[in-house]
Amino acid sequence: MDGPIPVTGPGQFYMLRTPTRWPVLLPRPFSLYDRAPDGSWGSFLLKGVGPGTNALLDVDVGEDVLVTGPLGRTFPADIEDPVCVAGGVGLAPFLLLARAAKANDRPVRLLFGGRDRAALAGLEDFEPIARVATSTDDGSHGHHGLVTELLERMIERGEVRAGETVFCCGPDPMMHAVAKLCERRGLRCFLSLETYMACGYGVCNGCTVEVDGERFRGWPYSKTCLEGPVYEACELVELRS
Ligand SMILES: Cc1cc2nc3c(=O)[nH]c(=O)nc-3n(C[C@H](O)[C@H](O)[C@H](O)COP(=O)(O)OP(=O)(O)OC[C@H]3O[C@@H](n4cnc5c(N)ncnc54)[C@H](O)[C@@H]3O)c2cc1C
Ligand code: FES
Repeated sequence: MDGPIPVTGPGQFYMLRTPTRWPVLLPRPFSLYDRAPDGSWGSFLLKGVGPGTNALLDVDVGEDVLVTGPLGRTFPADIEDPVCVAGGVGLAPFLLLARAAKANDRPVRLLFGGRDRAALAGLEDFEPIARVATSTDDGSHGHHGLVTELLERMIERGEVRAGETVFCCGPDPMMHAVAKLCERRGLRCFLSLETYMACGYGVCNGCTVEVDGERFRGWPYSKTCLEGPVYEACELVELRS
């Protein structure tokens, strides 16, 4: 879509809605997928799962979209050479990161999984700029199986070592499995949560998750829209059981 789109870090998101014919009360959150270096356009990677995403997918060329952002916290910028693990449209936060890494001559490693080849939308944008491995549940592209198996295989081969860092975004069960694997194998792991959000800027309390960590100063809950969506896995109480 035409900009201006402000400078946005990987993991930050925007609340989107159409100005007319918006079928639900509230806007919906989406990671920025791509952005022109001068901010003159930006793009989002959407999967139609309900009324909001379907309304956005129906927008015609030239129609307006209301865009609020950038919001939230990015993946940490000081980690060199992270392993990015994405499931489906969880790929979205990684293109800006991959472009920046490629510009520094350090192409990122991307493990990208989906149900089938069609669920690997965006793959062609990464192939020229990242070191990509794919998996599909039905075997139609790459490894036949789960993306966690790809990560495990890289660990076994010594291509990913203890102490390295994984950045992950995708469906909750996949992120939980990645976080657990990282914990077992001594890897740091940051997750970009796709929590259900109502306002996107801290007023509704609809997006809280239970946390434990120094940056929360003893407070047991965190608003994903303000202090997330990116959390280190060890900060999330849900992942400790
Ligand atoms: C920070 C962030 C970034 C996101 N980036 C993207 C993106 O780049 N591309 C993209 O396609 N989507 C993204 N999402 C997810 C998207 O915002 C939601 O799926 C949104 O609710 C879809 O709106 P909808 O009206 O189409 O469907 P809804 O009516 O909101 O939901 C449709 C169905 O999905 C279920 N559902 C929705 N959200 C969740 C959830 N968090 N957990 C479990 N079930 C849920 C609902 O219960 C319902 O069954 C992101 C979410 C967050 C928080
Ligand atoms: S979405 Fe409203 S407080 Fe986070």
